[in-house]
Amino acid sequence: MIQNVKLDFKHTNIEEKDFMKYAEEVAIAHEELHKKIKDKKEPLGWLEWPTKYDKRELEKIKKSAKKIQSDSDILLVIGIGGSYLGARAVIEALNHTFYNYLLKEQRKTPQIIYVGNNLSPNYINDVIDLIGTRDISINVISKSGTTTEPAIAFRIFRELLENKYGLKEAKKRIYVTTDKKQGALKQIADQEDYTTFVIPSNIGGRYSVLTPVGLLPIAVSGIDIDKLLEGARFAEEKYLDKNLKYNDCYKYAVIRNMLYRNQKGIEILVSYEPKLHYLIEWWKQLFGESEGKGGKGIYPTGAEFTTDLHSLGQYIQEGKRFLFETTINIKESATDIKINQDEDNLDELNYLVGKGLEEVNKKAMEGVIKAHEEGDVPNLIITMDKLNEYNLGHLIYFFELACAMSGTLLGVNPFNQPGVEKYKANMFELLGKPQKNEEPIKAKTKKESKSTKESKSTKETKSNKEEKTKKVSKSSKEEKVSKRKTSKGKHAE
Ligand code: PA5
Repeated sequence: MIQNVKLDFKHTNIEEKDFMKYAEEVAIAHEELHKKIKDKKEPLGWLEWPTKYDKRELEKIKKSAKKIQSDSDILLVIGIGGSYLGARAVIEALNHTFYNYLLKEQRKTPQIIYVGNNLSPNYINDVIDLIGTRDISINVISKSGTTTEPAIAFRIFRELLENKYGLKEAKKRIYVTTDKKQGALKQIADQEDYTTFVIPSNIGGRYSVLTPVGLLPIAVSGIDIDKLLEGARFAEEKYLDKNLKYNDCYKYAVIRNMLYRNQKGIEILVSYEPKLHYLIEWWKQLFGESEGKGGKGIYPTGAEFTTDLHSLGQYIQEGKRFLFETTINIKESATDIKINQDEDNLDELNYLVGKGLEEVNKKAMEGVIKAHEEGDVPNLIITMDKLNEYNLGHLIYFFELACAMSGTLLGVNPFNQPGVEKYKANMFELLGKPQKNEEPIKAKTKKESKSTKESKSTKETKSNKEEKTKKVSKSSKEEKVSKRKTSKGKHAE
């Protein structure tokens, strides 16, 4: 069998005989997980998704991706949390490190810009500046269709798009990924006749990267989504084995729980490849939202080495001993660069002559693991032979399944996130959001709502003296008048 993603636990002080004590518990949890798919009470659709994904939807994704590639310089991906991090993780892991900075001719596919994942006006204004006169499309992603951050961003950029291209053309550049039936976004998409993609109702946000949530933006960036799913499919089959002895994914879940029970409450996911920055972010969300509840849970954090060895390294080596690390090791780098001879050797690096940087990076990794293990920071190592679509699909599935198993062993529900509501309730109260039982606002006809929209933003522009706020409404002010009236198409100004 191809071992393209492999777990090594020999730097943890935990032996097979120790973790095998959990074998029965794991086998029962495995059966339960698979049984629960059928009774549809838990959002477990992701478990069988790599084999049971909607083939027609996949073709539609590819078709839309081609269209976006052909008519857009920029794809704006609007989403937050599980509706954002997975796509970015894959796009950044598998593309050029400087994908968005490359010349268009080098990149060949649109720049991907993420919005709706914060509430900073500066960020939004800077994206507006970046767009300038360039052609854009939008993929707005929200399962609930009501999340504040993406909803605000969509309102702003939809208006920008309508002003830029006119209503008719704008409709062709907006792609909505949301629930099949519910939510405000679904309502808007139906009303405006946008191209829509369905987020399966039995797949929660942070388990949804391999659904249209992640696949459309990933495909737009030129990544082979078939291969990504193929790798996940391989993992789905591989981890059907409920025997802990042969299941690396479950071993990872068990060992991290054993470490947790042994006062190791913080897990650092470590990588020596900067392209994995957002994979770490995605993993943090997956495990943090899944396990951190009921006063329990490993705190998931990340580090990028060797960069962070010069910031966090001291703490990891000698600070409070409540840490363990999981290192992602990419066995074979896609490229390498040789270190050449320098006659003067003032930097004393000639001992490295002829070696590739990959080897230096690997030796750094080995040295760090040894040092940290000696410093009582146990290390798990997940090795993938190469960083490619197939292996990344595998790794994504590995983490999703490990997370479900780990949360189950921990005794929490890994599929809900009740704690996320708390800040929202406070924020809504502070912002004066009407309560559900308050007088509903009378639904407006489309015509009415458009004219209200126009007069409102004009008023805002006039009354607002701050430069930055002016910037937001610049598009409304300058472009709206001519384009909304004429709707003549792009660059009508
Ligand atoms: O994992 C989750 O369920 C969350 O992180 C959601 O993905 C996030 O809150 C965004 O929700 P939505 O897709 O409904 O906008």
